[in-house]
Amino acid sequence: MNQFKVKKIVDQAFIEAELNKEQIAEILAADINDLDYLLQQADQKREEICGDEVHLRAIIEFSSYCKQNCYYCGLRKDNQQLKRYQLEVEEIIETAQMAAELGYQTVVLQSGEDDYPAAEIAEIIKEIKKTTAMAVTLSLGERDFEVYKLWREAGADRYLLKHEIADKVLYQKYHPGMSFENRIESLKYLKILGYQIGSGVIIGLPEQTPEIMAEDLLLCQDLELDMIGSGPFIPHQQTPLKGSNRGTAEMTLKFTALSRLLLPLAHIPATTALGTIDAEGRQKALQAGANVVMPNVTDGRYREQYQIYPDKICVNEEAGDCRQCIGSIIASLGRYVSQKQGHSLRD
Ligand code: 5AD
Ligand code: SF4
Ligand code: FES
Repeated sequence: MNQFKVKKIVDQAFIEAELNKEQIAEILAADINDLDYLLQQADQKREEICGDEVHLRAIIEFSSYCKQNCYYCGLRKDNQQLKRYQLEVEEIIETAQMAAELGYQTVVLQSGEDDYPAAEIAEIIKEIKKTTAMAVTLSLGERDFEVYKLWREAGADRYLLKHEIADKVLYQKYHPGMSFENRIESLKYLKILGYQIGSGVIIGLPEQTPEIMAEDLLLCQDLELDMIGSGPFIPHQQTPLKGSNRGTAEMTLKFTALSRLLLPLAHIPATTALGTIDAEGRQKALQAGANVVMPNVTDGRYREQYQIYPDKICVNEEAGDCRQCIGSIIASLGRYVSQKQGHSLRD
């Protein structure tokens, strides 16, 4: 695509935050070498909307049990080679309190689709809200709608539920036994309950096309997301997609930049998966529209076992190490760590 055409589409996205499917697909299909302007404009939009502050969200990966069988994920139920763990209520609360002491303003409670008792999760949320000043984000997959309500009433602020891929046929193929409709309904219901909602996409799954990724972005706009994340697909040997190609950093950066231009008010993370396939990946994303980083605060003993994909970074680190590491990355870009909770920019 020639530079003039790129400029025209990017300028329209910058001014109107609106593109049609063909325009988005065209940009996603273009060579990254022709897209400096896209990344620059996304960075500029980020600066305009978010300034130089970067929000940190501390992630506690508290259970690697999962009853689902997503084709790409190392935590899938049928991966019997994975040693599983589940933290106790007290351990989760203590980890959250340690995150607060490290200065984090948000904690993300994340697990596979484990049937961790809903009442215990509610208890954890209440205790964290009572004893720390942190916002609480849940990333626990699909649960009954009453459970989402219970947790919201317990004080949870946000819910992350990635829709992963906006093509129904591929969604069903890669998520046996799951339903795309239920996932989208869940996101809508979570929003009605007053959660700030986040979704996201895996970049580079087999058969995913620029047109499908354009649909992903249009869906994210429709859902009025408060947060949108994207990370490259990294094949895992103990999954059905072990022989597939990985997603690329380039495509992830294009998607990140378009996310900023089309959903200007969204929080956008520089993902760990991008940092895994490219040592400078998170830095690049922070300069292409991202304004959030999600460091791991899980105890070092368990990190290796939360193997969603191979070679995940930070498995040999502890919470304090990652906090320092991220602090230096952010400072090296001339940015700074926010001292605020970093709620949705939509309201
Ligand atoms: N590569 C990259 N990301 C993955 N996820 C799961 N498996 C992989 C993989 N192989 C992401 C999905 C999911 C979250 C648990 O991790 O987006 O939402
Ligand atoms: Fe389970 Fe989530 Fe992995 Fe799917 S992506 S197997 S739901 S942990
Ligand atoms: Fe964990 Fe850099 S963020 S070591």
